[in-house]
Amino acid sequence: MVAVAILAAGRGTRMKSSLPKVLHPLGGRSLIERVLDSCRSIEPKRIFVIVGYQGEQVKKALDRYPNVEFVEQAQQLGTGHAVQQVIPHLEGFTGDLLVLNGDVPLLRSNTLENLLNTHRERDNAATILTAQHPSPRGYGRVFCDSQNVFQQIVEDRDCTDAQKQNHRINAGIYCFDWVKLSEILPKLKTNNDQGEYYITDAVNYLNPVTVVDVEDYPEIFGINDRKQLATAYAILQTRLKDTAMASGVTLVDPDSITLDDTVTIEPDTIIEPHTHLRGNTVIKSGSRIGPGSLIENSSIGENATILYSVVADSIVKAGSRIGPYAHLRGHAEIGEGCRIGNFVEVKKSQIGDRTNVAHLSYIGDANLGERVNVGAGTVTANYDGVNKHPTHIGDRSKTGANSVLVAPVTLGEGVTVAAGSVVTEDVPDDSLVIARSRQTVKKDWKPSGKQ
Ligand code: UD1
Ligand code: CA
Repeated sequence: MVAVAILAAGRGTRMKSSLPKVLHPLGGRSLIERVLDSCRSIEPKRIFVIVGYQGEQVKKALDRYPNVEFVEQAQQLGTGHAVQQVIPHLEGFTGDLLVLNGDVPLLRSNTLENLLNTHRERDNAATILTAQHPSPRGYGRVFCDSQNVFQQIVEDRDCTDAQKQNHRINAGIYCFDWVKLSEILPKLKTNNDQGEYYITDAVNYLNPVTVVDVEDYPEIFGINDRKQLATAYAILQTRLKDTAMASGVTLVDPDSITLDDTVTIEPDTIIEPHTHLRGNTVIKSGSRIGPGSLIENSSIGENATILYSVVADSIVKAGSRIGPYAHLRGHAEIGEGCRIGNFVEVKKSQIGDRTNVAHLSYIGDANLGERVNVGAGTVTANYDGVNKHPTHIGDRSKTGANSVLVAPVTLGEGVTVAAGSVVTEDVPDDSLVIARSRQTVKKDWKPSGKQ
């Protein structure tokens, strides 16, 4: 049985922010959400988040995690003091406690599984996650004897120059036998450079303790300032892009592309430069996305192309061509084999298969059938200043250039709308509608007053 405690009470002064550090976003999720998500696979029995600085804000931001229990650390007297706060909540608990840092957001689930498995196999009192780090400055150093048996952790600021040469660092991630830890916790002292209660001291008291080296050291990167936040983003991007390319996705100029880790890209897809894929987005096989596109919380079907366009909260079905310079938003649903062209905005509308909206249009709150052709500059006038109204266009209908469809209005199937019409009433199937004044030509006409 395992319980988790996530340390998140610190203010994060070096972020220079009114937002608590752990709430800063990193690739679509906050730091603390990432930490919470990484421990999901170990199925913790209890999850405690230790909050202090702006704790209410942290609680509010995590309301989609109903199983999280918040424990207040009113004064931040150190990482050991933070863990002491769970003592009253774990009375009688005999399992293991996994301690995670709220500001170490790139941990992989299988690293945690590994840590927990080693801890159990060895029947350890504590197992600590370590890394061989090329630039260990700022991290606690972990010392082991020649048999690789743990000896002690010394904080960077408490290290001698010789100790600072040790590159094995403490990731701030630990697994403890709770019964043993809870005996030690009340005995922690503050005899260190910062005058704080250190959780690392508890490790120093326990026995047996083993270390587990993380293979990919950037995983344990901790965030204390905005520069480190940017570095973490770069680490995350490299990881996501390497995974995408290994799975058969072409990234043209990867450095100019950004991905969220909630995005799914099927193999044999080409992502062109300056393209950004965010949120719960799915890109199906054979698609070509970009250059210059932003796709957020959307699903793009097989063999679709999206060129210099923005697609948000929408669906594009197989074989459709979007852009250049189109904007699909608010639950636009584009059928198969459609063409949505230059300077077209589609909002909260369903577009049937093989329908074209090729140039300069606004389609909002509309339902278009199959094989409709929307002429250049056609606009659905969906808003009367108070309410939004729907427009329906039946299969095979065509609108002439610069038509305005004043909603609510329904055009039947096979309707033709003459160019420049302002359609205010429903039109039956197979009709031509002309809703504009007839052209008048006055021959040999001159402006009055002239001879
Ligand atoms: C800690 C470790 C260090 C390790 C490093 C890894 C100690 C003494 N040192 O140092 O060995 O290399 O993490 O990143 O533990 N927090 C609280 N309450 C407190 C103090 C801190 O909740 O009273 C939280 C912070 O919000 C943060 C985490 O604990 O999320 C770590 O605290 P921080 O001050 O950043 O520790 P480090 O100096 O980085
Ligand atoms: Ca830290």
